[in-house]
Amino acid sequence: MRIAVLGGDGYCGWATALYLSKKGHTIAIADNFIRRQWDHELGAQTLTPIRPLSDRLKAWQELTGNRIELFVGDVTDYEFLSSAIKAFEPDAVVHFAEQRAAPYSMIDRKHAVFTQVNNVVGTLNLLFALREVQPDCHLVKLGTMGEYGTPNFDIEEGYITIEHNGRKDTVPYPKQPGSFYHLSKVHDSHNIMFACKIWGLRATDLNQGVVYGTMTDEVALDDALINRFDYDEIFGTVLNRFCVQAANGTPLTVYGKGGQTRGFLDIRDTVRCIEIACLNPAEPREFRVFNQFTEQFSVLDLARMVQAAGKQMGLEVSVVHLPDPRVESEEHYYNAKHSKLIDLGLKPHFLSDSLLDSLMNIAVRYRDRIDASSMMPRVNWRKANNDRRTPEKAATVAEKLEAETVVREFLPVKNDGNRRTARGAKSLAGTAKR
Ligand SMILES: NC(=O)c1ccc[n+]([C@@H]2O[C@H](COP(=O)([O-])OP(=O)(O)OC[C@H]3O[C@@H](n4cnc5c(N)ncnc54)[C@H](O)[C@@H]3O)[C@@H](O)[C@H]2O)c1
Repeated sequence: MRIAVLGGDGYCGWATALYLSKKGHTIAIADNFIRRQWDHELGAQTLTPIRPLSDRLKAWQELTGNRIELFVGDVTDYEFLSSAIKAFEPDAVVHFAEQRAAPYSMIDRKHAVFTQVNNVVGTLNLLFALREVQPDCHLVKLGTMGEYGTPNFDIEEGYITIEHNGRKDTVPYPKQPGSFYHLSKVHDSHNIMFACKIWGLRATDLNQGVVYGTMTDEVALDDALINRFDYDEIFGTVLNRFCVQAANGTPLTVYGKGGQTRGFLDIRDTVRCIEIACLNPAEPREFRVFNQFTEQFSVLDLARMVQAAGKQMGLEVSVVHLPDPRVESEEHYYNAKHSKLIDLGLKPHFLSDSLLDSLMNIAVRYRDRIDASSMMPRVNWRKANNDRRTPEKAATVAEKLEAETVVREFLPVKNDGNRRTARGAKSLAGTAKR
């Protein structure tokens, strides 16, 4: 098949492009490298030293003989996107090219607006481009399990049948997203569903859980192909942060009580799910929804697993609770269905098997690159405007005072419910690069 991977320089996109290329598909990547710019903006970097995309693609071609075509541009630029689709003529487009960090979207108005414009306009442009130049192409769109929120009953795969006042209908499952980023995904889902209905497009919305792991067979071929491993407070996911904290000898920072439960999957399952979706396309007019995750864990479950894995590696790992910077239930019911991809042939990898190899060993291998201060939360969902400068980087006395207030907001909570001292926080955040 001819498959276009939008956002192919990013974490999921890079692993997917290589996997599909290895499977014999003809692949094109489109990306504007904005993810690398966000690292500069935030003063954060991936734990793993990723190479420029041109170097990665050259290395891939030298190692495998497979060429991946590259279109450099912004999917919010309609002329760029439609001409790329026209030139490549894909059978399937896999759309990863969005701003995907909930905390980034909650920094302030500018970041919320940017996130929604980037994501919603990019997806709208794609729908129009498909309608105009490649109407039979299958859109495989990355959504997120976070679109559903945490309702007090089971989460279905996309749709729910409801009986109301004696009448019955099947309708989209109610969405209760928890950030402006998650809202952008809900808006996307509505736009895609509508475009399928009015224009007869075919689409699969993959409501993906939190992805972990760096290693796929293809990425592991050479250091030049290494994938991202984000662990900072904005783009880092909780499991990555815990593994890095364990490797760094700093306590694991659990937000709130730690009962927050979410769906998770190994990056090797992400790439396989994408392949399954591409090989089994939706019908014209069909807006199909799969819940793409394999296991569910609470934050405290993950902390305990990382503690146990650390022990096996001879690491002393402790856990602290910070006030939750997010507005979310800290203890709740969670049971999300996820059988459709399994029915189509997914054979899941489980976290218990990959925690040491794909996460802890990577964290230990690159621990010289750890910046512990980048893991402390500085974005408070309750505020409309978050200044992320650390006290050390403040330019004026007023800024320093404001930054110190933010640090105090997220001091660890002791067993008696009181906050720890500022010195306690320093032991978490102060061990900058070694
Ligand atoms: N990583 C996860 O755990 C996870 C979980 C659920 C859903 N998802 C979804 O999967 C997708 C990919 O996530 P990821 O972790 O690989 O993100 P990522 O930030 O690593 O990659 C996204 C890529 O898209 C590119 N991009 C963003 N906006 C663009 C634009 N306007 N034009 C062109 N390129 C653009 C970026 O440069 C980057 O290379 C996202 O849509 C995300 O919402 C990811």
